[in-house]
Amino acid sequence: MPNILITGGAGFIGQLLAERLLREPQYNLVLTDIILPPIPPKAAHPQNVKAIQADLCDPTSLTNLINTSLPLDAIYIFHGIMSSGAECNFELGMRVNLTATASLLEALRLAQKPNTPPLRVIYASSQAVYGQPLPETIDENVIPTPEGSYGAQKLICETLVNDYTRKGYLNGFCLRFPTISVRPGKPTQAASSFLSGMVREPLGGVECVIPLRDREFRSWLCSPKTLAENLVCVFSSLFLLVLDVTRAVRISESFPIYIPPSVAHSKYLLLRCFTSCDTSTFPKQIILTLRFFRYLR
Ligand SMILES: NC(=O)c1ccc[n+]([C@@H]2O[C@H](COP(=O)([O-])OP(=O)(O)OC[C@H]3O[C@@H](n4cnc5c(N)ncnc54)[C@H](O)[C@@H]3O)[C@@H](O)[C@H]2O)c1
Repeated sequence: MPNILITGGAGFIGQLLAERLLREPQYNLVLTDIILPPIPPKAAHPQNVKAIQADLCDPTSLTNLINTSLPLDAIYIFHGIMSSGAECNFELGMRVNLTATASLLEALRLAQKPNTPPLRVIYASSQAVYGQPLPETIDENVIPTPEGSYGAQKLICETLVNDYTRKGYLNGFCLRFPTISVRPGKPTQAASSFLSGMVREPLGGVECVIPLRDREFRSWLCSPKTLAENLVCVFSSLFLLVLDVTRAVRISESFPIYIPPSVAHSKYLLLRCFTSCDTSTFPKQIILTLRFFRYLR
């Protein structure tokens, strides 16, 4: 049974992935977070998951976590301070997004047993590594130019994951997630939070303010369900087949796994979304955008 550790396990994507993996009986999960992560309520095999509360910024907590979780087959690194949070509190963003991630990678390197295959590390990066305007298609030739501390921290961690992989210490993948929409619950500290809010709030009869001066702003979206399926693919060898990825490519580069034609969020689309409560009147482009991200399956 593969043993998988998920950091940020109480968060949106940690819970989403845990629930998806626990649909099948073959995974043993450790969920960890600075708060005690809940066992996903819809988990089909809740007996296969353990929750551990740990502050990854604290060296003792980190060591205890790694010692308790070993042996591991994979780790999904999801903990973090989101974009506005990291911009408003630079020190916290640096501590959690950068220093804690670097310490985690180093702890995993030191825990690696000789003559065993390197641990698979799946690192949640972000489209925030790119500056605006986004080109129609992003490929490996587009140079990341982060415009905020969050994007900068993500890019530095990608570089670390790649270097640990190059050295053969870990087997890393950096995935540049687009905005995952629709996120349930309350607005978050992510700058892109409104991209869920503009769909979610009207459904609850609540107005959503779109904090944009530039109404031609573009973003990519991915549905939670598709993200969860793609994250499972990264763990399985299917991922390598689908993307025709070779080790040589993986060593030096991080690839955005989502390369859709980006669909403009036109003025019309933004305005209609936050004034409408009726899904049947949602502009088709939103639905199309969400569907585009299914292509990996
Ligand atoms: N949700 C998106 O649209 C999106 C888009 C791009 C990238 N990402 C990345 O994906 C990852 C998961 O995103 P999410 O939406 O689930 O975020 P989230 O905010 O819901 O979860 C992050 C979790 O990290 C935990 N955390 C914070 N500080 C910690 C610490 N010191 N020690 C341990 N845990 C700590 C928080 O408690 C939280 O539960 C993040 O790294 C994020 O940057 C998310």
